[in-house]
Amino acid sequence: MPSLLVLAGSSRAGSLNTKLATLAASKLTALGAKVTQISLADFPLPMVDATGFGNAPEAATKLRALFDAHDGLFITCPEYNAGYTPLLKNALDWATVAKPGAPATGLKGKVVGLGAASAGAMGGYRALTQLRTVLELGFGALVVPEMASVGFADKAFGENGEITDERAAGFLTATLERLVREARHAKA
Ligand SMILES: Cc1cc2nc3c(=O)[nH]c(=O)nc-3n(C[C@H](O)[C@H](O)[C@H](O)COP(=O)(O)O)c2cc1C
Repeated sequence: MPSLLVLAGSSRAGSLNTKLATLAASKLTALGAKVTQISLADFPLPMVDATGFGNAPEAATKLRALFDAHDGLFITCPEYNAGYTPLLKNALDWATVAKPGAPATGLKGKVVGLGAASAGAMGGYRALTQLRTVLELGFGALVVPEMASVGFADKAFGENGEITDERAAGFLTATLERLVREARHAKA
């Protein structure tokens, strides 16, 4: 059973990306993964810089330990001006500063799936292309090719938390199925 850490790159109350992360967490559990969902609101961190080496706050060390303890991650993230959020960038960078190693090893051996939700038509897709590059080149992660972007997300979730649009729901299913499959494979 692969273990997967689920988190959203928004700590906003009512966050659409947290909704997507929560839905993904329940689907990943149904697919047979052991899931831990966290909120970055529980990991308050100052802006990272090089003074953090050897001096990382407890929240960064805890986050890093969670990354290390799981076979993979599912990350959802809002799109801010076509990029991913400073909250997520800061948290990811702290996780490397908390345990420095060779470049591009922050998530080496980990499989990552990506999702985004936005009220806009593109559903945060542009942020995910950027996030994918950073995770692959900067962190050494294996990012699965499918991605789950949910457009018009303010209206996309039904009462039960499911995505009502068939196409967007299909993207999520495909991403999560591949993530579990690859994480299982990486663990074997
Ligand atoms: C600084 C900033 C820039 C944004 N830029 C974009 C954008 O480029 N594309 C987009 O679809 N939404 C953009 N948005 C809207 C967010 O995607 C929207 O607020 C979303 O609901 C935030 O995610 P959350 O609900 O998970 O907090 C932007 C929001 C902020 C605060």
